Amino acid sequence: MRTAEIKRRFLAHFEANGHTVVPSAPLPAIEDPNLLFINAGMVQFVPYFLGQQAAPWPRAVSVQKCIRTPDIDEVGKTSRHGTFFQMNGNFSFGDYFKAEAIPMAWDLLTKSVADGGYGLDPERLWATVYLDDDEAIDIWHTSVGLPLDRIVRRGKADNFWSMGIPGPCGPCSEIYYDRGPAYGQEGGPAVDEDRYLEVWNNVFMQFERGAGSDKENYPILGELPSRNIDTGMGLERIASVLQGVDNLYEIDEVRPLITKAEELTGRRYGLSKSHIASESHPDDVRLRVIADHVRTGLMLIGDGVTPSNEGRGYVLRRIIRRAIRSIRLLGFEGQALPHLLPVARDCMAPSYPELESDFERISQYAYAEEDAFLSTLRQGTTILDLALTETKQAGGQALAGTKAFQLHDTYGFPIDLTLEIAAEQGLTVDVEGFRSLMAEQRARAKADAAARKSGHADLSAFRSVLDEHGPTDWLAYSTLETDSTVLAMLKDGLPTRHAAPGEIVTVILDRTPFYAESGGQDSDAGRIAGDSVEAEVLDVQRPVKKLVTHQVRVLHGELHVGQKVHAAVDPEWRVGARQAHSGTHVVHAALRQVLGPAALQSGSYNRPGYLRLDFSWRGGLSAETRSEVEEVSNLAVRKDLAVTANVMPLAKAKEIGAIALFGETYDEDVRVVEIGGEWSRELCGGTHVDRSAQIGPLAVTGESSVGAGSRRIEAVVGIEAFRYLARERDLVLRLSELMKVPSDQLGDRVTQLVAQFKDTERELEKLRAQMVLANSGGLAAGARDVRGVAFVGAEAPEGTGAGDVRTLAQDVRGKIDPARPAVVAITAKAGGKASIVITVNAKAKELGLSAGDLVKGALSGKGGGSPDLAQGGGLPAEQAGALLAAVEKLVGDRA
Ligand code: ALA
Repeated sequence: MRTAEIKRRFLAHFEANGHTVVPSAPLPAIEDPNLLFINAGMVQFVPYFLGQQAAPWPRAVSVQKCIRTPDIDEVGKTSRHGTFFQMNGNFSFGDYFKAEAIPMAWDLLTKSVADGGYGLDPERLWATVYLDDDEAIDIWHTSVGLPLDRIVRRGKADNFWSMGIPGPCGPCSEIYYDRGPAYGQEGGPAVDEDRYLEVWNNVFMQFERGAGSDKENYPILGELPSRNIDTGMGLERIASVLQGVDNLYEIDEVRPLITKAEELTGRRYGLSKSHIASESHPDDVRLRVIADHVRTGLMLIGDGVTPSNEGRGYVLRRIIRRAIRSIRLLGFEGQALPHLLPVARDCMAPSYPELESDFERISQYAYAEEDAFLSTLRQGTTILDLALTETKQAGGQALAGTKAFQLHDTYGFPIDLTLEIAAEQGLTVDVEGFRSLMAEQRARAKADAAARKSGHADLSAFRSVLDEHGPTDWLAYSTLETDSTVLAMLKDGLPTRHAAPGEIVTVILDRTPFYAESGGQDSDAGRIAGDSVEAEVLDVQRPVKKLVTHQVRVLHGELHVGQKVHAAVDPEWRVGARQAHSGTHVVHAALRQVLGPAALQSGSYNRPGYLRLDFSWRGGLSAETRSEVEEVSNLAVRKDLAVTANVMPLAKAKEIGAIALFGETYDEDVRVVEIGGEWSRELCGGTHVDRSAQIGPLAVTGESSVGAGSRRIEAVVGIEAFRYLARERDLVLRLSELMKVPSDQLGDRVTQLVAQFKDTERELEKLRAQMVLANSGGLAAGARDVRGVAFVGAEAPEGTGAGDVRTLAQDVRGKIDPARPAVVAITAKAGGKASIVITVNAKAKELGLSAGDLVKGALSGKGGGSPDLAQGGGLPAEQAGALLAAVEKLVGDRA
């Protein structure tokens, strides 16, 4: 049965049982800062479970796109871990419970294919229940008829489900399918989860949990307002069962990717001798990783995630890089994604048509990321080759752990490639050393993350404020000040009733004119004041939907819950904020006019006077292009275009071509901001000027790279733009005074000065060399006799360049009577290190002396050259004298 059909039957079964079909939410979980991606079908329904919002329907069914990456290292090694998967789920919001949920699942699994079910053999199904859930055991045994020996009680780690973060949770009952002895040991799910494959999880959502350290350790905060059902049937897993394949990489939506990778690498999938995934051949594991990760990359970029060095973008980057690295380890060295990504698209587009229509954008990001990574790999390979050669020359067997770590840390070069390449050259790698450096780094990163998180109040505190007082009356579009009442205050995440001068607290008001940071616009500044109390607003956020919070510092007086206050936005600030936000739209439109529609915004930030915008584009902008963008922007300002904001249905906004930003989720009704009608049309919740002339001058101050295929343009607007331009003008004035030429001749004058400077430097170098050489006669005359060899050992004057030291040594040698064997050794000091040059004349060579051997002997191998002339270095500067003594001794020993 094809995956699409399995999905269709799931939705149909539950629709027939009174469920409303709800579409999948996009993968980035934007509502919850604790969660990067949607990781279960129920995430979009959390507010209904928690009772924060009334569920629009008593029963729902969905097929949700999910990402789970904690087990990323297991991908390909077990039959059931995929980073992207789809979860079929049915949900009850205070409606039916265990007694109905369990039989409904059983019915679909075991009903015959002809009757619309999946036709699984009931004899092969097992159930697990939470430790003391006798009620579930009774339903399984009495209503469903499952024998008691196929019902297993399991503990919290296995049978108590939560999202891994604070939120709804509850005991669960899972259904397992026995794939038979070829897949592992007898004995049920507790013994072997590869043979007994979990296909369905029924969670009895009854509790709310708090923050905790792992899967089992967290407090239960209390019961949910109602008893709910949340179920999850991994679509890929059930597909692997119904399609009779070993694992989820071999189902119809994934296997074509393996086939393509086989073609590209010339390897063959299926070399494993056993059906048991953990016993797989390494090539099979790599082919599965490629297939899984390429598909995940496609789905993530499809939902608006772009590669970057943090958060969601980092997860995406890591996934793409793992795919590329795996195919490289299978021997394919070129660009793989242009071959693989279209295959993934063709597999998934029947369910997600937007992948087809949006493929141009998706592939642009993916291919740019691959380009960037391939050049990282090239650079890393060169460095690694050098390190391996050095290791071998020094007689080592293993590449140092520090080197492997440096390659990984500084160049992003993966350790498994280091191992592979080292092995090809007959060397091992100090993996222990590498691991311990990695562990140290992880510990540091963890400490950093913990420090950052503590500033971040637990969301449940905000949720309870919202429960108690309802949504904030938000007036940012209509007024700059309003009377209001302090509803609640939090200090360090905990409720508090009073705040004294100097204290920083989070304040929730019944109504507020403050703009909360969002859509790239920074939050408003201003004051909250009341009877003999005044507080400065530092930050405004919306941590949960519909609740605005103000972080304030009390300036004087005491702020307390219940107080009547006056909340006022700083009007100057708001003028600047409106200019900057409208300026951002203008620059975006100008970029797209100049570069074309592919230059799409991927992120932005603006505050009074300043804006920046990240956009997808490969390669830097030329100076002319930058000026053109600036010119188009300022012309739009001069035209004094009308700026309007209208709320309309999302479908209508799309129809008129409003630009929606990828990765954002929008409500049914959206706000469309236009500048000059269709000149710029974007979905946006920000505050804007009324007419474009109010933006004032706009000056582009910079343009730079922010990762593969992504650029950042920065600009200043309004009075800041004026100040910026005035500063630049002053600078030019000062320079032309200094150079004593009119400003339009500055460029020529500077070019001329640079050329003069270079000539002078060359002259200086020549003089320095002459000075150094002036001494050579004296040095030659001072040669000492070392067992019949004329030996000169001297230190070059401070600051002599390496080339000059060589010239000096040769010059001294030339001044010694050629009939005498002679050895000249000159040391030099630079940057705290000592180096040495040794040269030997023909007579000395006849005695068997060699410059190369002397350098190697004196420096224990660090250096080399020809028998006539050799050099080496790397010792601490204070050992220069000892180095000369060592050479003299070697000459004495050998002569
Ligand atoms: N939310 C449950 C899970 O993801 C059904 O397993």
